[in-house]
Amino acid sequence: MARIIDGTAVARSIREEVAAQVAQLRAEGTVPGLAVVLVGNDGASEVYVRGKARACEAAGMHSRVLQLPAETSADELLGTIDGLNADPDIHGILVQLPLPPHLNSKTFLERVAPHKDVDGFHPMNVGRAFVGDPNGFVPATPEGIMELLRRERIDTHGRHVVIVGRSLIVSKPLASLLMAPGPNATVTLCHRHTVDLAQHTRMADILVVAVGKPGLITADMVKEGAAVFDVGVTRVEDPTSPRGYVIKGDVDFDAVAAKTSAITPVPGGVGPMTIAMLLRNTVTAARRAHESARRRPAAAVR
Ligand code: GUN
Repeated sequence: MARIIDGTAVARSIREEVAAQVAQLRAEGTVPGLAVVLVGNDGASEVYVRGKARACEAAGMHSRVLQLPAETSADELLGTIDGLNADPDIHGILVQLPLPPHLNSKTFLERVAPHKDVDGFHPMNVGRAFVGDPNGFVPATPEGIMELLRRERIDTHGRHVVIVGRSLIVSKPLASLLMAPGPNATVTLCHRHTVDLAQHTRMADILVVAVGKPGLITADMVKEGAAVFDVGVTRVEDPTSPRGYVIKGDVDFDAVAAKTSAITPVPGGVGPMTIAMLLRNTVTAARRAHESARRRPAAAVR
């Protein structure tokens, strides 16, 4: 039976580390601040955004949520982002996705100043992550998976990691982190057009699934002793649940857990890590801003 990786516990300890860094920065005169921009009333996004704001406050950070109406124009949203880019109290900016259909996310993700882009979605930060430049920001979910691998002591060196999914939010940055010197993994990336998905997943020493299709990965698709990371988060209707729905991952958990060495549950696996890593990126942004203001004191008072 697999070891069940407790992402909630690992995330808690990272959030404690972040809170200590926040306390240090506050003592030096900088309060790290995160702004989250939410356009419209998507229920799941509202829940995520509330979670991010609460986690910021619990860590001693300043949090600002800007909820704009669904009919916000592109110019209005660009103006909001420009205002946050120029605001010295805000060190991290996150534009919650998805945006309403009339707003093309690319335009807005590119407007966030790269040094405040704690989501790591700006092409400048995507490129930095790809070339292994540590001065950018890596998106929170792949960074959270890397942290779980490190803290759970799951060796990636020379091992075969199969990632199902090809998103910019999770799979592509995760592939580049894993294949870099250090982790040294061999990476296969599969997606909806992959012929015979099971043939690939069965070769995985470490399997990461980030698709959003409950039950996609069944026990026959997983090698005995593999480690499995389930990034899927899908609301599935369930009249017996008090909320009317349950959250499901992409992996058929009970059957797959029976043959793996380690597995993340949904909820309580990769999900909680995402917020913890977002907070860590925001503190990093605040630390960099603090140091750069210290190096240029004359410019700051002018
Ligand atoms: N929507 C779902 N996940 C994310 C995320 O990590 N960042 C943003 N900005 N939006 C999301």
